[in-house]
Order: sequence, then C-alpha cells, then structure tokens
Amino acid sequence: MTPLSIKNHLKFGKPNTMKKAYLFAAACLTVLVAVASLEAQTESEDLILNTESVADRQTRMAWWKEARFGMFVHWGLYSSAEGEWGEKKFVRAAEWIQKNAKIPADVYEKTMRPKFKPSADFATQWAQLAKQAGAKYVVFTNKHHEGFALHDSAQTEFDAKDFTDRDLHQEIVTALRGQGLKVGVYHSLWDWHHPDAPAGKGAVNVPGLQMADRELPNYVDYLHAQVNEITDGRYGAVDVLWLDYSKPPFQGAAWQAKKLVDLVRTNQPNVLINNRLWKNTKEQREDSKQYWFGDFSTPEQHIPATGIEGVDWETCDTLNITWGWSKHATQYKSSTELIQRLIDAVSKGGNYLLNIGPRPDGSIDPKSVERFTAIGDWMKINGESIYGTQAGPFSRLPWGRASAKVLDDGSYRLYLHVFKWPKSGELFVPGLGSIPVKGQLLGGAAIGSPEISQARGGIQITGLPTAPIHDSSTVIALDFDKAPEVAPFRVYAATDGSFTLEPADASLKGAKYHDNEMFHRSNIDSWKAQSHARFPLQVETAGTYEVQIELATHRLKSKAEFVISVGDAQHSFKVGPTGGPKQWKTIDAGTLDFPAGPVEIQLACESIEDNSQVKVAKLTLRPVK
Ligand code: GLC
Repeated sequence: MTPLSIKNHLKFGKPNTMKKAYLFAAACLTVLVAVASLEAQTESEDLILNTESVADRQTRMAWWKEARFGMFVHWGLYSSAEGEWGEKKFVRAAEWIQKNAKIPADVYEKTMRPKFKPSADFATQWAQLAKQAGAKYVVFTNKHHEGFALHDSAQTEFDAKDFTDRDLHQEIVTALRGQGLKVGVYHSLWDWHHPDAPAGKGAVNVPGLQMADRELPNYVDYLHAQVNEITDGRYGAVDVLWLDYSKPPFQGAAWQAKKLVDLVRTNQPNVLINNRLWKNTKEQREDSKQYWFGDFSTPEQHIPATGIEGVDWETCDTLNITWGWSKHATQYKSSTELIQRLIDAVSKGGNYLLNIGPRPDGSIDPKSVERFTAIGDWMKINGESIYGTQAGPFSRLPWGRASAKVLDDGSYRLYLHVFKWPKSGELFVPGLGSIPVKGQLLGGAAIGSPEISQARGGIQITGLPTAPIHDSSTVIALDFDKAPEVAPFRVYAATDGSFTLEPADASLKGAKYHDNEMFHRSNIDSWKAQSHARFPLQVETAGTYEVQIELATHRLKSKAEFVISVGDAQHSFKVGPTGGPKQWKTIDAGTLDFPAGPVEIQLACESIEDNSQVKVAKLTLRPVK
C-alpha cells in the first residue's frame, strides 16, 4: 500500500469547512505549547520529573480520595453492535468488536452509522443512576479504541456531531454537572479508524498496512489535537482524564507523553490523569518517587490483595466481564458481591469505579439499574463508612473488612464491615488491642461499653442483634480517642476449632498470589521447587490437626511434591492431576501437631514438573478428636 492510499483513507476523517476555524486555533495552541515545552523536551521524552509538592498534590487529589466511588460508562458505536457481528458472538470486551471480528474501519463505519440512534435523555439517565447509587464521579468514554468521538471534533467527521447533529459529549457533561457529579473523560490512545495509528496485530483500520508504512507523528498530532478539544475549556472543567492504554513500544515517548501532559495541565491545572500513558502491568513503578507516571494507578477487574502502598489507585470493574454492551453477557455479579468489592477496595485504600455498558440508544438495562440501585440503598445507610475513609488497620479480618477515618476533633473512627454476620450476636475482632469509647451499628442501635471487652488478643463485642441490618454488609462504627493498637495479622480458629487458610492470608516466596477476578478463585500458583507460603495462626488449643488442601492443576502429568510443616514437625505429600485449572479438588495432606500460641504453618514445594501449575485455593485444619 502506498502513502497516497493512506491519505485517501482520511476521506472519512476530512475536516469540514465549519471546523477549519477550530483547526486553525488548535494548531496555534499546539505551536504555543510546543514552544513552551521545548526546554522540557530535552529531558528523556519518556519520563516526566515529579516537581509537585506533597501538599499541592494532596490538595489536587482531595476530592477524589473523599469520593471513593465512581461510575464508569462505556458507550460508543460498539454498543450498537450489541456483542454480535454476523455469526460471531462476543461476551467479553464487546467494545473490542471491531478488532475481534476483524472489521476494516470503512466497513465498520458504514455498518454502525445507521444503527447509532441515541435517545433524547440518555445522559440524564446515566447521571441520575450514578447519583442514586452514591457515586461522586463519572468517567465516560469520549473515544474508545474504535476512534469514534462523542464530542464535536474539528479533526474528523467520525464523531457524534457529524453522525447525529448532536454534541453528545456536551449533553453528558451537562447532565453530570446537573447532578453535582465530577466529570471524568476516558480517551483512547489507540485508534482503529485513523490510518496512521498503531492498530496492533491485524491492523484493523487499514487491513494489510504495516506499522512501518504508517506515519505515527500524524496520528500523535491528531491525538493531541483531540485531547486539546476535550480539555481546553469548551466543555468546562475536566476532573479526571482517563487515558487508555500503552504497551511497548507504544507508550510514553511514542505518544509524546510529556507534551501531552503539559498541554492537558495547561488547559486544566487541577485535572487528575491516570497512569496509562505508560505500560500498566506494574501497579507501582520503582522510580515513581522521582518521576511522574500519572496521578493514580488502575488495576482492572481485580482488587489488589493488600492495596498498593504509597500509590493512589482505583480498581475499575465490570458488572459482567464486558465494558461495552453485549446482549450475550447475561451473567452479572450479584449486588452483594458488588457492594463487597466496593468495600474491599476502599478498605485497602483504593477507589472503586464500577462500569455500566448502556444499550445502543444509551439507555441502561434493568440488571445494571437494579445493581446500582442496590448499592445506593446500602450507601444511604452506610455511606459514611466509604466517603472520606482510608484503609483500615487490619491486613485481614475473618468476617469482612474495615475502613477508618480521622474525625475533625482528631478522634479515630473504625468501621467494621461485617460480611458474614454472627448469628450468636457476638463478634470477635482479632488483633484489636484498644477498647473503643463508644460503638454504633450504622442504621441500628448504639453499642454500650459493657458489651465490649478484651479477649484472646482482640476484642469481643456482645449483645449484637442476631440478624444483620443489611445482608451484604452490616457496619459497626467504633470510636477511639486515637488510632487503636492493632497486632500483626494472625488467623484465628472458628468456633468449632477449625482453621480456614485463604491465599491472601499467606506471605509468599517464589509462589504467586492470584486475585479473585470474575470466574476465577483466589489462589496461590507459580510454584517452583523451594517456593513456599507461610500462614500465621493463633492456636488456642494445642493438639493434632488434620490438613486438607483444595487445589486445581494445569498441565500436570504425574505428580508434584509438597511439604507442610510447623516448626520441626513436617509431612510430605504428593499432588496428582485434578483434570484442569478449574477442576478444584480437596486432597488430604496428613496430620500435624500444633502447640498453643502463635504458630506459623509453611507449605513448601519440593518438586514440580516444568510448565505445570498447582493452584492452591484453600487449606483447612480440623482438630482430631
Ligand atoms: C482495557 C480495554 C478497554 C477498557 C479498559 C477499561 O484497557 O482495552 O476495552 O476500556 O480496559 O479499563
């Protein structure tokens, strides 16, 4: 393909005359910014020095850390495909349909154009649902990878204004502001419509056109110009700019990150920018103190086991494993699961950005409405345990999570989120070393001081109702004069004397922890000879315990050998194939004698076949009568 035909492809990206004035203004601005940032350009293109003071940064991040909960919206032309292209059906990532069904940009545009018919009040529906759910901000896709822009762009005719004669970006921003919500704009770094944009393997935008034949600088200019259009103030303030995504070699310098960030910060001095101008696999960069890699990190579809220390982060999550609407994605997380995931993220110091994928006309399907409404109902009673809170002081709690807040008078409020409510009306809080001055069930009664006592290296709360106030999580607020003492984490026995050890309870060497992404169980895998997991326990009753391990294997042909030990006592056992990575089986791993007191159990791998995996999901220890 010759460069000429590349340019011909721009016919569906040719600016109209009305837009030329805008183009000229944007070009002038680009020149200005380029001159202003010339000095900065002499530094390594890829790295932006961190020059902001801690105090300034805190001021800029304050509303976002107070907010804790936001709504993500994926909606564009892809929504009108509804997860279906001819015979092909897509349940996951339906917003990727152009690429996954291998559709060239011109065919995609022609097919989708007549289907795109936004209803009159779609934006109001989004804003109302976000508000009702207790979300404080909304991040919506201004342009996803397909390249279609919701704002009125002078750079292209592949935008909402040219398709519908409506500025949908404006409609959305107006609706969000109308509900007092902060405005976040998602903008894709990839573009499957622009002929000079990197399209990855398969080159969707122009089939057969290799990267070497593309003029990346043309696309980068286009990218910067479009980002300028959405941030230069014509749509008011932008609270979050959510860029997506980077993968070497297309990261940092390839996008001219420094110049882009300068442009955005000049346009919007208070904006928060996510981390995806650079490759996003590592949630924390070693050099992040010296260099700036975005204001917050963005784990996707999972909540990091112990949060991400020293870094602000936001888990973005789907209701049903697709971001964009697919009529084939029918399996949704339950409201309880979603409420608990929100709490889980917040209890580890993160934000939670929960997605809706509106239908072709922008309306929201009943299952999504039901779930956001349920979150809102829970938030009405329990919102104070989410907004403005920080990570709780516990690394693990057997029945739920905790968040905390320092109140205006300097006192400390601890929120216990009880997922599994004790029918006995007694709750043991392991490791808590201070007695609160007062307690309160959110949405329920006060807890008097006679009902709170020190016990077994923690505190015991009695006289609680025997049924929870809310099935997903009932919250107990405990007030202290100052931050309470909390002992390092240990697993305590259940009332029948047995211990359940979960993957997140372990400290690992060599082996790796995997989070509970949808349809996966949390587990420890990547075992090699000599790798181990250690679980800290608090044993009340010395004695013999039988050990059972729930696990699944992948590509294991014969056997892997493991050793389980407590102090000098140890016991080896073998693991055979379970039939596949999702075939969970419980195996007996023998018996062990435990002394009373703090004890550490070690599970170590002795030998394992190359390229095979053992996934450990749970250990159960039961006292032998
Ligand atoms: C991924 C996907 C994209 C989705 C995003 C949300 O990067 O490419 O489809 O918008 O994640 O985090």
